[in-house]
Amino acid sequence: MKLRSLTITLAVLILATAAVAIAATLTSGPMRHPNVPPRHLALPLFLTQPVSDQTPNADQVRRGQYLVRVGDCASCHTPEGGPLFAGSLGLNTPFGVIYSTNLTPDRETGIGNLTPDKFYAALHNGIGPKGVPIYPAMPYTAFTRVNRADSDAMMAYLKTIPAVHRPRPANQLPFPLNFRFMVRGWNLLFFRSGEYVSDPAKSVEWNRGAYLVNGLGHCGSCHTPKNFLGSDKGGKAFHGGDLDEWVAPDLTANARTGLGSWSTGDIVEYLKTGRNQRANAGGAMADVVTNSTSLMNDQDLHAIAVYIKDQPSSPSSTVRDVDAGAMRRGKEIYSDACSSCHMLEGGGQRKTFPPLARNAMLQQADPSGLLHLILAGGRSAPTPTRPTALSMPSFAWKLTDQQIADVSTYIRNNWGNSAEAVSTKAVADMRRQLGLDVIRRTDGSGDSP
Ligand code: HEC
Ligand code: HEC
Ligand code: HEC
Repeated sequence: MKLRSLTITLAVLILATAAVAIAATLTSGPMRHPNVPPRHLALPLFLTQPVSDQTPNADQVRRGQYLVRVGDCASCHTPEGGPLFAGSLGLNTPFGVIYSTNLTPDRETGIGNLTPDKFYAALHNGIGPKGVPIYPAMPYTAFTRVNRADSDAMMAYLKTIPAVHRPRPANQLPFPLNFRFMVRGWNLLFFRSGEYVSDPAKSVEWNRGAYLVNGLGHCGSCHTPKNFLGSDKGGKAFHGGDLDEWVAPDLTANARTGLGSWSTGDIVEYLKTGRNQRANAGGAMADVVTNSTSLMNDQDLHAIAVYIKDQPSSPSSTVRDVDAGAMRRGKEIYSDACSSCHMLEGGGQRKTFPPLARNAMLQQADPSGLLHLILAGGRSAPTPTRPTALSMPSFAWKLTDQQIADVSTYIRNNWGNSAEAVSTKAVADMRRQLGLDVIRRTDGSGDSP
């Protein structure tokens, strides 16, 4: 009896350690180097090239190509500068870097020798071809909802693309994270495999939306908050997630911080073109739009919008009064630095410069996305309908931490917006995180703080 409870205690301890450790390997997005501008997105032509009728199983391959777009496989499995699907993109985790694998049909370094069973096992169970667990940086917790026919179609497509021989670098994970068996502990606690099961009480369209959003689209991997063990917080689906240097906003019906005031048409337009009359897709969402949602058909985008619009509102929080001094100073900075594009009344310019009035993204409780954008600047997503990306300049060198805090507080509390004031400490922290706290001189005279 004693021995048994000791064994159980030990097992729980090991599981807990494994869980904490593996939580640390959840990715917060592609690796970013300080002072290197964000990846310049180009439209992934290859993903849109028509599949020739001469291809064996052309229909299946065509479907697979479409599903690979839905799964956004290209964003993670393409190295900086290409070629498409050759893997080796470094994904940042708090403790080290995990590299994605080569999905081209190269026999040695890619999926050339993979059987449909093994491919399905990777997506459905998070088990790699050699039978060892895959780190949850690969979103198998969502891909497990994908059905077998869709998995087979994706593999059939990937086998038709040109093979690229490219071994991936070894993951840079410290002990004990480098032991893959730890992932088993995490899976035991948090991962439930299983294909999507339709809800008969809902419409066919709603169910299609749920399948796409919770399966291949893996929208919750960014938009659902995680607990400290890296698992979804219960009852908070799509309440908004922290991506370290950015925020994936609330997608629920909340009228202030969520999509309460967006119509299904607004959501479809945003996902298809990267812009609408309310917002522009920036940050990690620009990759998602360019490589995935802009290449989906209108029917599926509409299904996604119908499902998203049905998410119950996150609780509304009360906001403390903000300092009148910060508002006064913020107003002046805004009129100098921002109003030329976003206009004095915050209305923006239709589908070019996003409006800041009643803008959900900038009212998130966590201002990280806003601060990242003001400090580093931004570039909207190029899409087939709107191929030219628009840029917002970086203000890291033009404005001090105090000025950025003030202008942020001002726009968060003007024109019908309401959100907590932003502190100078939050700005300083983000500046440091982005490596923008040191001026790197290009003339060789050295760095200065
Ligand atoms: C958020 C980033 C991300 C996305 C999106 C993503 N992957 Fe992955 N994938 C990874 C990483 C990282 C690994 C390697 C994990 C490891 O080393 O354990 C991986 C591993 C894999 C493997 C295992 C291969 C092997 O040889 O071990 C397969 C198969 C795979 N991904 C297929 C896909 C497909 C198909 C899609 C799109 C439907 C996709 N991935 C989307 C990050 C991603
Ligand atoms: C890799 C992380 C990631 C994934 C995956 C992702 N998103 Fe996003 N999403 C973001 C970020 C970050 C933003 C904020 C963009 C910005 O600040 O301009 C965002 C913004 C949005 C917005 C606009 C919200 C607003 O208030 O402006 C919508 C709508 C949205 N995402 C829907 C989706 C849907 C639907 C999916 C799945 C198909 C998805 N996202 C998948 C990171 C992600
Ligand atoms: C030269 C024009 C320009 C100036 C000046 C400018 N912006 Fe922007 N801004 C843009 C563009 C273009 C985008 C969309 C790009 C993106 O989302 O990455 C944008 C996006 C934004 C967003 C995100 C809105 C959303 O829904 O995604 C906020 C917030 C913002 N700007 C605030 C500011 C503030 C504050 C200033 C002044 C400190 C400023 N901008 C100055 C062009 C500008």
